[in-house]
Amino acid sequence: MDKKKILRQQFNIQADKFSNWAITRNKEYMRRYYEFCGIVKDDTLLDVACGTGEYAIFCAQKIKKVCGVDLSSKMIEIAKKNGSELQLKNISFIAQDVFELPFKSDRFSIVSSKSAFHHFDNYKRIVSEMKRCCESSGKISVQDIVAYENPAVNDYFERMESLIDVSHNKTLSCDFITRLFRDNDLEILHSHTITIGLNLHEYFNHAIRQRKGEKKFMTLLIMGLMILK
Ligand SMILES: C[S@@+](CC[C@H](N)C(=O)[O-])C[C@H]1O[C@@H](n2cnc3c(N)ncnc32)[C@H](O)[C@@H]1O
Repeated sequence: MDKKKILRQQFNIQADKFSNWAITRNKEYMRRYYEFCGIVKDDTLLDVACGTGEYAIFCAQKIKKVCGVDLSSKMIEIAKKNGSELQLKNISFIAQDVFELPFKSDRFSIVSSKSAFHHFDNYKRIVSEMKRCCESSGKISVQDIVAYENPAVNDYFERMESLIDVSHNKTLSCDFITRLFRDNDLEILHSHTITIGLNLHEYFNHAIRQRKGEKKFMTLLIMGLMILK
């Protein structure tokens, strides 16, 4: 099946679970990312692959205008519902592939993406689309999980991640993301890495796993726990 179709299907079926995951709703992480981006009241923000809109809504309560775009119509449906419950008038959500952003050039002062790059494949294209939609004096920002430096540890978590969520593509390294920015002639103002704790049970259950991968998943999990012991 085509990758986009898998992605759309996966997030359509797991939209409710994803939206209710404590990590998705964590306001402290949103506040830290908001501050990291240096967003101010007059900014207009494009949230690339906005999911169920929690971060877009968080920002809309503080700034001029926000638009969220996501491939999954179910994720966007929840985002719209969440936005209208708060009666926000300065926010809009569009169900669309972010590799073809439906905006004229230089439309936003901040173009950011949160927890989504590990699903993408054409990085050069997405960064150039983000750059196109951003004013020349604006800012582009990417937040995501990053690869472990130890290849064996990284390979373990990549396999785990793909079994948890079939739409996972690849976790990028900090170096790769840095190069991506530089190759697109973007000046890097700052970068930052944090370590967060995940509740194992909640992490496994934030996505809908495929039944056929369940046995492999359990084997991998037990192997990992045995090594940790
Ligand atoms: C892990 S979720 C993150 C959602 C949100 N940014 C957040 O932090 O809660 C990844 C999102 O990327 C979206 N996505 C992946 N590829 C996409 C694409 N090509 N176009 C639009 N959205 C995409 C998925 O539909 C999903 O909602």
